[in-house]
Amino acid sequence: MNIAADFAAVGRDVVDGLDAAERASRDEIQALQRKRLAWSLRHAYENVPHYRKAFDAEGVHPDDFRDLSDLAKFPFTVKTDLRDNYPFGLFAVPRDKILRLHGSSGTTGKPVVVGYTANDLDMWADVVARSLRAAGVRPGMMVHVAYGYGLFTGGLGAHYGAERLGCTVVPVSGGMTERQVSLIHDFQPDAIMVTPSYMMALLEGFKKAGLDPRETSLRYGVFGAEPWTNAMRTEIERAFDLDATDIYGLSEVIGPGVAQECVETKDGLHIWEDHFYPEVIDPLTGEVLPEGSRGELVFTSLTKEAFPIVRYRTRDLTRLLPGTARPGMRRMEKITGRSDDMIILRGVNVFPTQIEELLLETEWAAGHYQIELTRTGLMDEMTVHAEARGAVWDAGGLERQAERLIARIKSTIGVSTRVIVHPPESIERTAVGKARRVVDNRPKG
Ligand code: DLL
Repeated sequence: MNIAADFAAVGRDVVDGLDAAERASRDEIQALQRKRLAWSLRHAYENVPHYRKAFDAEGVHPDDFRDLSDLAKFPFTVKTDLRDNYPFGLFAVPRDKILRLHGSSGTTGKPVVVGYTANDLDMWADVVARSLRAAGVRPGMMVHVAYGYGLFTGGLGAHYGAERLGCTVVPVSGGMTERQVSLIHDFQPDAIMVTPSYMMALLEGFKKAGLDPRETSLRYGVFGAEPWTNAMRTEIERAFDLDATDIYGLSEVIGPGVAQECVETKDGLHIWEDHFYPEVIDPLTGEVLPEGSRGELVFTSLTKEAFPIVRYRTRDLTRLLPGTARPGMRRMEKITGRSDDMIILRGVNVFPTQIEELLLETEWAAGHYQIELTRTGLMDEMTVHAEARGAVWDAGGLERQAERLIARIKSTIGVSTRVIVHPPESIERTAVGKARRVVDNRPKG
C-alpha cells in the first residue's frame, strides 16, 4: 500500500532546511492532493463499513471525486461516529497490521481510539520532524519532551519526531516540576516541547529553585495541545529568552504535527497539506467557506492507512490563509478556541483566549487564570479568577487594577464580568494534560 511512498523524501530530502514537499509549489501540492484524496476516499470506502454506509447514504462514490472541490460532496465525520465505532470499528486494516494505539480521553464516556500502521508511524515521525525543523530545531540539538507519554499522542508523537530529526530526546513526560527544572538545568537542552500552560508552571519552578529562567540553555519552545494567545507567546519568550512557536494536531488526524508555525515568521501555522487536507466550514450550515473566513476546521487524511479520516469536524475555530514561509502550503490562524469552549454569556460569545489576551495586557497578571460560570436566578455570571505576580501582590492595591480590567473586558468583548485577583500559586495548575480554563458551576439541566 504505502501511498505516502511516492513522496518518500518527505522530511528527509532536506535542502537548506526544507524537504521536498516544503519546497513544492502550490500547484504541485494540489496535484499531489488530488491523487492522494482519490486514494484515501477509496481506501476508506472499501475498507471501513462506516464510510461505505455514510457515502452510500449521501449518494456519493469515490469515483465522484475528480477535483479538490468535489470533496464537499462527501459526508462529514463527527466525534460520535468515532464513539459509535469504539474501539476498532473505523480501522481500515486488519488489527495485526496496527503497530500502535492512541486515544483521547474526552470528557464523557469511552475514549476515542486511533491506530497506526508502520507507514503511519513513519509519516507521523516525518511531519513532527518537519515541524521541529520549522520551529528552529536542528539535528544534533537536545529536546526536552514534557508532553504526557501514554495514550495521549503528545509525548510519543513529539518523541519519535525529535528522534527522526536526529535530536537527543529527553523523554520526561509531564509533572514533577522540580525534577523538570533540575533536568533542564543539568542537561542543557536546546528545545522544549510542552503545553504552554505547563511552561508557565515551569517558569515558577525556575524562580523557586533560585534559577534565572532567561539563563537556561533553552532556545526554542514548541507549544501546543491547547489554545494560547500571542500575548502568552510574548510572556513566555520574554521570561525564558527563547523563540516560541505553535504546534497543532489532534489524535483523530494523527496527533501533534498536523500544522506548525515557522520560527522565521511566527504568523500562524503552516498545515502540512501533503498529508492533511483542510477545509473551513460554517459550523451551523456545514457549507465550505471561502479562504480567509473564520469557521470550523475540518480535516481529511491523505495518506493514512490504519485510520483514514474523511472530513472530520474538529470543532476548532480558525481561518485558512495563504502560505508564507512555505508558499505551497496554507496556514491556519492561531486557534481562537473550540466551539465547545465558547461561553455564551447573555448572548455574547466569549472565548477564554480573549480574556487571556486582555489579562496579559496588564502589568499585574501572571498568566494563570480560570473563568468561572455561575447562575443567580436566571442570570448567568462570569468571574475571571486571575493570579497576580508575586511582587505586585505584595505591593497591594489590586482592587483598582481589577476594576480597570472589568472595564476593559466590557469595552472590548462587551460582557460584564467579575474579576477576582488571587495571590501567587493559588490557581489550579495542570501538570499533565491541558489547562482547564473554564469551570462551569451553573446548575445542570
Ligand atoms: O492535543 C495533540 C497535540 C499534542 C498537539 C501536543 C500539539 C501538541 P488531542 O488530545 O486529540 O491531541 O486534542 C486535540 O487539542 O482539536 C484542539 O482543540 C487542541 N489543540 C491541539 N493543538 C492546539 C494548538 C493533541 N496548537 C485538540 N492550539 C484539538 C490550540 C490546540 N488548540
